[in-house]
Amino acid sequence: MPEIAISARDGAPEETAADTRVLGLFDGERLHEPELQQLVELGEAKPGLRKVAVSHEDAPGGGRRRVLIAGLGKREEFDLEKARVAASAVATRARELGAVSLSWALPDDNAEVGLVEGTILALYKFDRFKSKDDGEGDKEKDGELESLEISGAEISEENVRRAEIAATAANRARDLQNLPSNVATPTFLADRAEEIAEAHDSLELETLDREAITALGMGAFAAVAQGTYAEPRLIVLRYTGGTEGPHLGFVGKAVTFDTGGISLKPGGKMSEMKFDMSGGAAVLESMNAIAALGLPVTVTAVVPATENMPSGRSVKPGDIVTAMNGKTIEVNNTDAEGRLILADALCYAVEQGVERIVDLATLTGAIIVALGSTHAGLFSNDDDWVAEVDAACSTTGELGWRLPLHPEYAELIKGKYADLDNAPEVRKASSITAAEFLRNFVGEVPWVHIDIAGTAWGLDRPYVGKGASGFGVRSLIELARRAGG
Ligand code: BES
Ligand code: MN
Ligand code: ZN
Repeated sequence: MPEIAISARDGAPEETAADTRVLGLFDGERLHEPELQQLVELGEAKPGLRKVAVSHEDAPGGGRRRVLIAGLGKREEFDLEKARVAASAVATRARELGAVSLSWALPDDNAEVGLVEGTILALYKFDRFKSKDDGEGDKEKDGELESLEISGAEISEENVRRAEIAATAANRARDLQNLPSNVATPTFLADRAEEIAEAHDSLELETLDREAITALGMGAFAAVAQGTYAEPRLIVLRYTGGTEGPHLGFVGKAVTFDTGGISLKPGGKMSEMKFDMSGGAAVLESMNAIAALGLPVTVTAVVPATENMPSGRSVKPGDIVTAMNGKTIEVNNTDAEGRLILADALCYAVEQGVERIVDLATLTGAIIVALGSTHAGLFSNDDDWVAEVDAACSTTGELGWRLPLHPEYAELIKGKYADLDNAPEVRKASSITAAEFLRNFVGEVPWVHIDIAGTAWGLDRPYVGKGASGFGVRSLIELARRAGG
């Protein structure tokens, strides 16, 4: 992925050296330049969000340059999310027009974060497996935007840099997600974690192989991994950036391909199950960003990575396994594998002394029925912690909506022959019962489970488009930033 150079410039927007400058237009407001205001009066430049008008003007250094007028809607309704949306409309249009350097005049205080994120996220492409000359992809047709500048009097360089790092991290997670499962194997993810750890002194990597996973008593994780030839990994990244705030634990499901195992999934859309490692991808890339930003927090990331395959040695329906904390589980459906690998990963995180946990997992199809692709499902054992997580999610536009836990739901996952049943026959509230299952492995530690099955790909946000979304990366970074005070 060619990365675009981002900068902040404290000065007059029209003094830019960029080949394309962008002015925002709010509903009912005027543009200073008479020629541009004329376009507003003619109705060619519109204030509606996502509208983009194209004009030209003399460049200060001679020659002509492009001016884009971007509709921003009503000023009082303008927020970070609208900035992301407007920036994505501009970026897409600028790329079509062959712009190489873009300069946004900051339209409103603090909008820089949204403009930078919206641009970087919107320009993301995953076309590395397309041959250059197949004439299908837009590899040839579109140019590449090389730089984005945000200019204005009150511009925060720190905000610009943070947004750049966060959105780039989201795009890197999208790469991991989009890579097919024959490339993005558990060991491939472990190698990526190693790359991340090597880039930062503040990060330390530990990986456990099949033998170590079994030796630690991770019987639930090992059961899922026993059916595949691909070597599983428990990937642990430790970030020590300071002593402020609680020790955070980020846990991400990384099933690099979920066939369902012996409880085989139907064939339709099964290829999408390469995305079943989205939680793990988000956790890994958020750690890279947190280290790059040098946030003053302590975070331990735990990513259980394996395939879920049917084979002659797969775990079978009815098998009973024992998780790291001693709880026994009847595996009544091998397709409910996410909660099995997370059970041991959560136990491991708790054992590492984490004081607040967030887990991200493409855990249940039912969350797509409940919340679609607009909100991820939030589940928690702690009102204060979930309020913090929810606030971070609102800031980033990676929206969450809390669903309840309750002892009656916990009843549903009690096992017939063991402590727990991973997939009760009665399919009531199945996103909630999945969360109730996970709750058994966090002890008393404040914990939020985020079910991202509906949002990890196919998000309807205009600045993300179809395909992998990198959902959760920016919220984890935001959470770490807030925890650091
Ligand atoms: N990875 C799936 C959940 C999923 C389904 C994510 C569709 C995204 C799109 C998970 O492992 C799974 O198979 N869950 C089952 C659980 C059931 C067997 C209790 C489900 O949701 O059907
Ligand atoms: Mn499954
Ligand atoms: Zn799965």
